[in-house]
Amino acid sequence: MAEIIDGKAFAAQLRAHIGRRVARLVAEEGFTPGLAVVLVGDDPASQVYVRNKAAQTLEAGMISFEHRLPAHTAQPELLALVRRLNDDPAVDGILVQLPLPAQIDADVILNAIDPAKDVDGFHPLNAGLLATGNGFGLVPCTPLGALMLLRDRLGDLRGLNAVVVGRSNIVGKPMAQLLLREDCTVTVAHSRTRALPELCRSADILVAAVGRPGMIRGDWIKPGATVIDVGINRIGLPDGRARLTGDVDFAEAVTVAAHITPVPGGVGPMTIACLLHNTLTAACRRRG
Ligand code: GUN
Repeated sequence: MAEIIDGKAFAAQLRAHIGRRVARLVAEEGFTPGLAVVLVGDDPASQVYVRNKAAQTLEAGMISFEHRLPAHTAQPELLALVRRLNDDPAVDGILVQLPLPAQIDADVILNAIDPAKDVDGFHPLNAGLLATGNGFGLVPCTPLGALMLLRDRLGDLRGLNAVVVGRSNIVGKPMAQLLLREDCTVTVAHSRTRALPELCRSADILVAAVGRPGMIRGDWIKPGATVIDVGINRIGLPDGRARLTGDVDFAEAVTVAAHITPVPGGVGPMTIACLLHNTLTAACRRRG
């Protein structure tokens, strides 16, 4: 049976560590890092994320600025807010919650965020810095959290075969770049990949980020592999409630892998912890 990686505990330790560093900054340098979160509309999942982000930002001793705009907000209005936040010296990090309503082009908004405050790491400049490998950009939170769990469990990742299933700009692509930076041999698979089960079976590290519940089966996994499940899928139950499940068939995979992240309680809690980590990094660089 695989060891189950406790992302919730790891994230709590990381947040505590960040909280201690923030307290030292406040005491010694007299400044408090600030994170601005922008939510447009009333998507229920986004509301939960934003509430959790604000609570954990405050818990880490940082300032949380929340901007809630109605669903019918026009693009120029949101752009104007982003520009105000870019110019606000009290704001070290800016996060615009995705998805945005249909009348707003997310790329236009993400490209307008000051790259030095882009704590999501979605600006093309930060994506480019991750790809060119000089290490000075801000890295997307979910893949960064997944990498922290991998390094904690496996130590040196050099030479390992990594298969990333999913090629999104938010997870798959930056995850592949991070693993390449660790000297893994990286393959990015997607919906058009042929012979996906065989490919997955070649992976020492298998990262699933496709958003399809239980797609990755136990016999797709190499015995002794490390499985990182980034999927967060809501499954409706007959009683009207919902259950969260990953992209990996956990009950099957846990009997084959050496290490596996559960859903919930695996990569999920690492995302906000890494957001706080990026905010602290951005604050230190901007003011340092
Ligand atoms: N929506 C779902 N995940 C994310 C994320 O990591 N960042 C932002 N901005 N929006 C999201």
